[in-house]
Amino acid sequence: MSEQAIGVFDSGLGGLTAVKELIKVLPQENIVYFGDTARVPYGTRSDKTIKAYARQDADFLLSKGVKLIIAACGTVSSVATELYDALPVPFTGVVVPTATAAIRATKNGKIGIIGTPATVNSSSYKTEILKRNERIKVYQQACPLFVPLVENGFISADDPIVKLTVERYLSEMKGEGIDTLILGCTHFPIIAQAISDYLGKNVTLIDSGKETALYAANILGSAGLLNTSNTLGSCTYYVSDTVDGFRRTAEVFLGRNVEYEVTHINIEKVSSGLRAKS
Ligand code: DGL
Repeated sequence: MSEQAIGVFDSGLGGLTAVKELIKVLPQENIVYFGDTARVPYGTRSDKTIKAYARQDADFLLSKGVKLIIAACGTVSSVATELYDALPVPFTGVVVPTATAAIRATKNGKIGIIGTPATVNSSSYKTEILKRNERIKVYQQACPLFVPLVENGFISADDPIVKLTVERYLSEMKGEGIDTLILGCTHFPIIAQAISDYLGKNVTLIDSGKETALYAANILGSAGLLNTSNTLGSCTYYVSDTVDGFRRTAEVFLGRNVEYEVTHINIEKVSSGLRAKS
């Protein structure tokens, strides 16, 4: 069992920020990643569509025999919460680990949350924070333009478009005096520098990908599912749009040049095939 892979999915490439951390924390684990690059973004879609896509993505990973599934996507984690009970293997999204880390980090009790419109409308992070500490003040802001900026490679902290967009979305929150900001979408760590430059170094940024990787390690540990082999694990990547597009941008997310196998799949076809079999 322990040599089975960890399945990770996102609407696109953002989930690779979680994969990067998983490789650091659990280097011996095999990872199967699915990025739904043909249907990104999810964050501006209806709950019904997000739930349907999330189920197809999870079913695809199940067909690869994974032992744990991580929705490395703030949007799916916030909206498709039924996955917690629906899957035959352990599952985690990014909301609980990230909210918990933000509560640990804040000193003045003022936490900002940024995410996609679907995530912010769901108030998922806010609910998890207030469940644990109702005295914390929470400020939320949807930042839909961050996702296409990142997916199209506008990521430099010096880029005027990035700077302007960050300022436009975060000026109100900056005025509220938050000391902690949840990057509630896994695409956002890629522009963390621009966000930090604008908010100042006294604001701690919480990276949902990173916190979730640590949380997943705990789940596997407690379930006795850690891969105990001494060899480095492999990473296999699947995308629903072009493989070339993935190769060009993946390095930015993974933070290093990696050897990897990338395969294109038609997620709708694959998942309807899976449904027909079950
Ligand atoms: N990476 C996804 C998330 O964490 C957002 C991108 C999208 O809108 O699909 O919410």
